[in-house]
Amino acid sequence: MKILLLGSGGREHALAWKIAQSKKCEKLFIAPGNAGTNDCGENVAIGVNEFEKLKTFAADNAIDMVVVGPEDPLVRGIYDEFKQDARTKHIPVIGPSLKGAVLEGSKDFAKAFMQRHAIPTAAYATFDGTTIEEGLKFLETLKAPYVLKADGLAAGKGVLILPTLDEAKHEFKQMLGGMFGNASAKVVIEEFLSGIECSVFVLTDGTNYKILPEAKDYKRIGEGDTGLNTGGMGSVSPVPFATAEWMQKVEKRIIKPTVDGLKAEGIDYKGFIFFGLINVDGEPMVIEYNCRMGDPETESVMLRLKSDIVDLFEGVANGTLDSCNVVFDDRSVVCVMLVSGGYPGDYTKGYAISGLDSVGDTVVFHSGTALKDGQIVTNGGRVIAVSSYGTNKDEALLKSFTEAEKIKFTGKYFRRDIGSDL
Ligand code: AMP
Ligand code: GLY
Repeated sequence: MKILLLGSGGREHALAWKIAQSKKCEKLFIAPGNAGTNDCGENVAIGVNEFEKLKTFAADNAIDMVVVGPEDPLVRGIYDEFKQDARTKHIPVIGPSLKGAVLEGSKDFAKAFMQRHAIPTAAYATFDGTTIEEGLKFLETLKAPYVLKADGLAAGKGVLILPTLDEAKHEFKQMLGGMFGNASAKVVIEEFLSGIECSVFVLTDGTNYKILPEAKDYKRIGEGDTGLNTGGMGSVSPVPFATAEWMQKVEKRIIKPTVDGLKAEGIDYKGFIFFGLINVDGEPMVIEYNCRMGDPETESVMLRLKSDIVDLFEGVANGTLDSCNVVFDDRSVVCVMLVSGGYPGDYTKGYAISGLDSVGDTVVFHSGTALKDGQIVTNGGRVIAVSSYGTNKDEALLKSFTEAEKIKFTGKYFRRDIGSDL
């Protein structure tokens, strides 16, 4: 099978690493990929949103399957574009249709969907420029802290959590006034939930679903979860509080009603669903949906998936996922992200990276790297993900940060406490 994978981050390197291990994968292309994905297949210089070029490439190269890494092309309708073109309509795209991707693309849609299907989530209301007064009154009915969410995609920055009512009112007006452009033309105000978060991943063919290993990511730059938010400083899988009993609640109250709800509403969804959950006194609730895998969760989850991922993708494409078997590796995995000095603020790119050869139970994924005159150099805030196995999370963490010390570039920074709070 010839597979085309879209994306260029650590998540895509981890997916490429896993796809390349499949007996069914005869050739893997990654568009546009990074300096690491080249080791798993062949990079193709086409951007993830260049649909015409991607369709032409897929048709000309007899691609059998397209796997979409990031949300952007999904929210822009890549699934439908491939379906509507005579050259590519027979090529399965692993990812939801435009309508399905709205679960991530619109917080208002996602909240209303959960309400329609009685899926546990925070109480909420949505407002726009014509209902500012109502929004301010609604805020007065809530307790601090206050959660404001831009309805649309805002590069991961569209959620504000404010400690006082005055700040919440001020920011609410700013958001509706265009703080996040069109993405905040509508604002969701919701009840604050207190608990620990956990990311649960599912593959669905639209009827059946398979649950993949869960993970927890660490978003803050500093140890002890302090400082600014980042794209993710590391991840751990499994998550100790996600016991069999807790996961049964997640499946019964959240996963099954979501997949059934999508089907009942006639929404074509063949791909990953990422459930951003929070554990509130032992009860799982949904914070958000994403229509893709998580980053840096994928860099842990792929190490714990023993099954052939291309078998699962075929099950998704053919509607036969029920006949597939998902086997987990029982070991723990901790992913530690090496980032550029200064990130998530300003940082310099282009520093040479050395010491990259992965060893033993450790796998190195490239997140933001490039190849310059034959040398691998830093090319982003998040640069390299180091993922290791251990008999428990502490052993996995120790291995990851010991290996992380061996990789060198100017300004390198990483957290040494991933998973240690659980
Ligand atoms: P989202 O983009 O919806 O995942 O929100 C970003 C982050 O804000 C989440 O990962 C949570 O840490 C936090 N958050 C979002 N909604 C809530 C809520 N209702 N209560 C508490 N924290 C929240
Ligand atoms: N790690 C969270 C995300 O990928 O959105």
